[in-house]
Amino acid sequence: MNTIVTGLQWGDEGKGKIVDYLTESADVVVRGQGGNNAGHTVIARGTKYVLHLLPSGILWDGKTNVIGNGVVLDPIGLVAEIERLEGQGVAVTPEKLLISDRCHVVLPLHKELDAAREAALGDRRIGTTKRGIGPAYADKVNRNGLRVADLLDEAYFREVLAHRTAEANEILSKFDLPTFDADQQAGEVLAAFTRLKPHVANTIPVLHEAWKAGRTILFEGAQGSLLDIDFGTFPFVTSSNTTAGGSCTGTGLPPTAIRQVIGVCKAYTTRVGAGPFPTADEGLADYLHDLGREFGATTGRARGCGWLDAVLLRHGCMVNGTTGLAVTNLDGLDNYETLRICTAYDIDGVRHELPPADRHAWDRAAPVYEELPGWMSDTTACTAYDQLPENARAYLTRLSELCDTPIQFVGVGPDREQTLVV
Ligand code: IMP
Repeated sequence: MNTIVTGLQWGDEGKGKIVDYLTESADVVVRGQGGNNAGHTVIARGTKYVLHLLPSGILWDGKTNVIGNGVVLDPIGLVAEIERLEGQGVAVTPEKLLISDRCHVVLPLHKELDAAREAALGDRRIGTTKRGIGPAYADKVNRNGLRVADLLDEAYFREVLAHRTAEANEILSKFDLPTFDADQQAGEVLAAFTRLKPHVANTIPVLHEAWKAGRTILFEGAQGSLLDIDFGTFPFVTSSNTTAGGSCTGTGLPPTAIRQVIGVCKAYTTRVGAGPFPTADEGLADYLHDLGREFGATTGRARGCGWLDAVLLRHGCMVNGTTGLAVTNLDGLDNYETLRICTAYDIDGVRHELPPADRHAWDRAAPVYEELPGWMSDTTACTAYDQLPENARAYLTRLSELCDTPIQFVGVGPDREQTLVV
């Protein structure tokens, strides 16, 4: 069954673990958006792997992994990631990994422009990962970006890059930032591309053939629904469609190819970067950080933590068409006495069950909470849903009701075995 796995919060929901679990029965794993701003931690057979751009199926033999056209690809970053993985004994061969020739390329100058823009925004900065994601997508929409196919034509690539570098240097010099040498940049990108070239293909017919042959395709979402450029907490979002629709435009597989959408959320909420976070709670954050939890896989940043926010999850389930929920990190709440779930926002005395579009309304959104008793016991050894403490099951049932979506998976620890199927 072709399945999209999408994050329902601000990323870091533990999608990597759910994807890894579902990969066992998948033939093809494909990514359709984002870039190496993502950081998926997967623990398999006792080893920890951190993936940024590579689909999680790369950790398995005999699976096809596809980096789809909607991804922005940093060749230098991807080669470093491949080498790191190969150092851990994972083979990355052209049989296992295909890269769409339509992916837009993240250039070194995009990373510098990302940093320059953040610096210029000062207090209003987005808190990006500085991986050049926004500027690379901006060039795509602006129609002056370079695609993987353009890297195959070295003369053309150098010519366009020289032009693009001159434009970027104008901006960088305004901020007294180091400017770029187009030739040096071209050399670095092309050198990295040598390693990637055997993987480049028109991935659209490959995916369609897999679909027609009835092979199982897994769409691995990166970031989360609230970072979606259209449906997220704009402008504090990433630059791609992280919700289910992005899986179609980012791969060339149509909506009719998809049978189920699994929305992944934590049993609480976390967020990195700037922007609204109505249910943020310092007590919960200290508690989770003291347990050594909630530090970013890509940047190492301590994440902000807060209560489960059903307003946001309800919205996420709507726009994704979520058919089932995967709730991760339930064990993070094992020893918390009283838990809260936000069921609505009070904005100027009016009850809102869906998030506002007006960016200033967020500052006035007061969460309306429901309190539930904690379960005060260890869930990490549970191997089936009915082994979970009664209060934990009641918490999950309430979440399911508030989102009008059934619970399909529950995560009680980082290992592959600690994923309970409901
Ligand atoms: P960008 O994607 O680097 O442009 O960053 C935009 C926003 O998305 C920032 O708030 C980042 O912290 C956030 N972001 C991007 N990728 C991830 C991710 O994989 N997990 C969590 N947050 C992310």
